[in-house]
Amino acid sequence: MGAGKGEIRVLGIETSCDETAAAVVSWSRSTGPRILSNVVLSQVEEHAAFGGVVPEIAARAHVEALDGIIEAALAESATGLAEVDAIAATAGPGLIGGLLVGLMTGKALAAATGRPLYAINHLEGHALSARLEGDVAFPYLMLLVSGGHTQIVLVKGPGQFERWASTIDDALGEAFDKTAKLLGLPYPGGPNVERAAANGDPHRFDLPLPLKGEARPDFSFSGLKTAVRQAASAIAPLSESDVADIAASFQNAIVETLKDRVGRSLERFQAEFADIAGPVLVVAGGVAANSAIRSALLELCRGRGFTFLAPPMELCTDNAAMIAWTAIERINAGIRPDAEAMALGPRSRWPLDERAAPLIGTGKRGAKA
Ligand code: KG4
Ligand code: ZN
Repeated sequence: MGAGKGEIRVLGIETSCDETAAAVVSWSRSTGPRILSNVVLSQVEEHAAFGGVVPEIAARAHVEALDGIIEAALAESATGLAEVDAIAATAGPGLIGGLLVGLMTGKALAAATGRPLYAINHLEGHALSARLEGDVAFPYLMLLVSGGHTQIVLVKGPGQFERWASTIDDALGEAFDKTAKLLGLPYPGGPNVERAAANGDPHRFDLPLPLKGEARPDFSFSGLKTAVRQAASAIAPLSESDVADIAASFQNAIVETLKDRVGRSLERFQAEFADIAGPVLVVAGGVAANSAIRSALLELCRGRGFTFLAPPMELCTDNAAMIAWTAIERINAGIRPDAEAMALGPRSRWPLDERAAPLIGTGKRGAKA
């Protein structure tokens, strides 16, 4: 097995959205998980002029970059293809063109090396990535907040998820991106809204807190977006300080909403798993980069006796280490690679919890995560 005794070594490939990524991750009983390389090429610049991800441009960029990225990941980890025990490629959810590129490359490498191919759910990668860095035991709660998804999932083990809450309209990252556009801030919107908010008055505009106080644990952001539009058009043209005040008020409303909404699922976890002494909330997805949101979640968790875990940013956002790691988790759990993995096609939609009711309104930007 792998390069050393008792070691599993997996090459991961991720092409579901606008990052072309490859990574080599190893695991052994004595060392635990080790990220030997984690190479990510972002396409942000290719898409910036269009104000969002353009699927055709993304697919072409993946085709052009992927071989080189895989070579770099192998070289950086000093791993020869023959030392790889399995290949893991994201098979969904995401943009079909990009998924096809990654999955076909994974199949070709699996066929060439005679190693198994694991077709990985990108969301499972996000859900399990916290275990790459820390000693997090199942079950735990995960809040996934990205450009395409906003959900709270109970993570019970590899392949075992329960969706407890989701957005009923826009994803949180989408709300940040749309607000940025409305305020004339450049793409990608989230970091620019956060930057503008730093100089603004969070209490100048009284924005709604969608679903606040309701018993259902779900999220909603489209009403907030509409309120931002109305606030902006009422005082147009906007000065720089107007933009800062709106951004700050928007971010403040998001923080307040999240505390209320996430709090519901923390309560449920405590009720259902009263015997777990150290409950954990893990956050993943690009929006987890937002420091106001991070500190609000940290404060919320502290107040409720939860440990709040925010993996380092390079593991929160899209990467291939989490895809390789998901395959290792599956191998360690005795889950065999899908016998049909080599015949599988990509899936643009692939919920973690297949039994949960279909998501309403999420994934408008191609069900990316
Ligand atoms: O997980 P991610 O990198 O990509 C996918 O969606 O797959 O998340 C990107 C999203 C974008 O909507 C971006 O605006 C948002 O994360 N984002 C942020 C921040 N940084 C990135 N939102 C709020 N504050 C930030 N600092
Ligand atoms: Zn993602």
